[in-house]
Amino acid sequence: MNGDGIGDLAGIRSHLEYLHDLGVDAIWLSPWYPSPMADAGYDVADYRDIDPVFGTLAEAEALIAEAHAVGIRTIVDIVPNHTSTAHVWFAEALAGGPMRDRFYFRAGRDGRPPNNWESIFGGPAWTQVADDQWYLHLFDSGQPDLNWDHPAVRAEFDDILRFWFDRGVDGIRIDSAAMVAKDPALPDFDPLMPPDPHPWIDREALHELYRGWRRIADSYHPSRALIGEVWLPDPQRFVRYLRPDELHTAFNFDFLGCPWDAKALRRCIDETLTTHAAVGAPATWVLSNHDVTRHVTRYGRTDTGFSHDLRQARHQLPTDLALGTRRARAAALLTLALPGSVYVYQGEELGLPEVEDIAAADRQDPIFLRSAGTDPGRDGCRVPLPWSGSAPPYGFGGTGWLPQPDDWAERTVATQIADDQSMLNLYRRALRLRRALPGLGDGPSEWQDSADDVLAFDRPHGFTCVVNLSARPVAVPAGTVLIASTPIIDGVLPPDAAVWVSTAL
Ligand code: GLC
Repeated sequence: MNGDGIGDLAGIRSHLEYLHDLGVDAIWLSPWYPSPMADAGYDVADYRDIDPVFGTLAEAEALIAEAHAVGIRTIVDIVPNHTSTAHVWFAEALAGGPMRDRFYFRAGRDGRPPNNWESIFGGPAWTQVADDQWYLHLFDSGQPDLNWDHPAVRAEFDDILRFWFDRGVDGIRIDSAAMVAKDPALPDFDPLMPPDPHPWIDREALHELYRGWRRIADSYHPSRALIGEVWLPDPQRFVRYLRPDELHTAFNFDFLGCPWDAKALRRCIDETLTTHAAVGAPATWVLSNHDVTRHVTRYGRTDTGFSHDLRQARHQLPTDLALGTRRARAAALLTLALPGSVYVYQGEELGLPEVEDIAAADRQDPIFLRSAGTDPGRDGCRVPLPWSGSAPPYGFGGTGWLPQPDDWAERTVATQIADDQSMLNLYRRALRLRRALPGLGDGPSEWQDSADDVLAFDRPHGFTCVVNLSARPVAVPAGTVLIASTPIIDGVLPPDAAVWVSTAL
């Protein structure tokens, strides 16, 4: 908004109407706190203020109020696993003394780190300080891990939650929620023989922690929502975080990583619905976020799944963006028809592809920097939205953040609003229908008998969704076509397309 090319609160406030017209119920903002930006703000220096690059606390309060006025709730990102090295606690800890106990400071082993843990961003998970001790950071060296066995850490975050809830925030997204507790012995890790319990993932202590947070959320009226970023391979372990007195929902990364394949998707949907029903929690459906390769690009490849381990190997593999876009349109209708809540990552509604050719000098992600450029990291999905015009910055106001491609004129909001068949208008229409139709959102869902490579399911009140993942056209069921990801000609749904049909209208 202020022309520096970096998104800010004034910019979001000036686009609330866009979000309202899109039809979202809530916005989730990644960290907006004062930060040296070693990891795009996930290195927090002060959890109770706003970084000047984004605005002020008063502007944040105004944004929350203005969003409420147009029926949009606000979710903020809380980062409990680590602070920034610029946090006042860490500055004090560096000077020595008891503040070190709030982090993990340890002596090394013969000049080497205290244990063999590796940073998720590459390289060792330990950095040595001036007096030869080492501190733990599961992510970047600018993100020292907090010691959650320390009562002051717990008390501080209880207070941070209340700070934002008192300002009208409707929910919090909990960053790296399954990694926050550690085995205090910090044992060596043998990746070939995963220990149970794991020394830093999915530790039992987390459940008691989140029960406490739930009590805080429930002490507000209306109750505030807790949303976990929980990456766990085991769905049974995953939904333990969603038991009635813990978190409300968590991002469905199994679905996000699932390839564009009917059997795999069906298995994932069934598993999601069954495991969530067992704990009485709503399912979530996620196709993209700020940490993964955009799905238009993924779905245009031979290998359509996502996993962090393979991001580097799949980078710049050939992709057919027209095919990826067709599938992304169908996937949007699939997710918006399923029971539960849907997260739309900014730019997904414009069908933005991953930007894979960002120059090394422009890259920001610590993954790129810590891997000496071998892993491209996540910048390609974080490029600013194109609003209007025919050349960068496409109405974004400056080019200070990641550079936009030269060929996004067709993808701007302005172009897409004017094009009835655009991805943006598909999302707008589908979101409007989802709100208006009584059978969508929560509630039962039943598979129809269909070929293995077609997904067809019924929702209440005569609603059917059909997604054709086969290579041949399939018949659209009888009824009124509510919306389709591609034009329906002669009652036939082409490959890589989806349709919603109603027999009640
Ligand atoms: C989460 C965030 C990611 C961040 C990491 C460390 O995974 O989504 O963007 O880098 O946590 O805070």
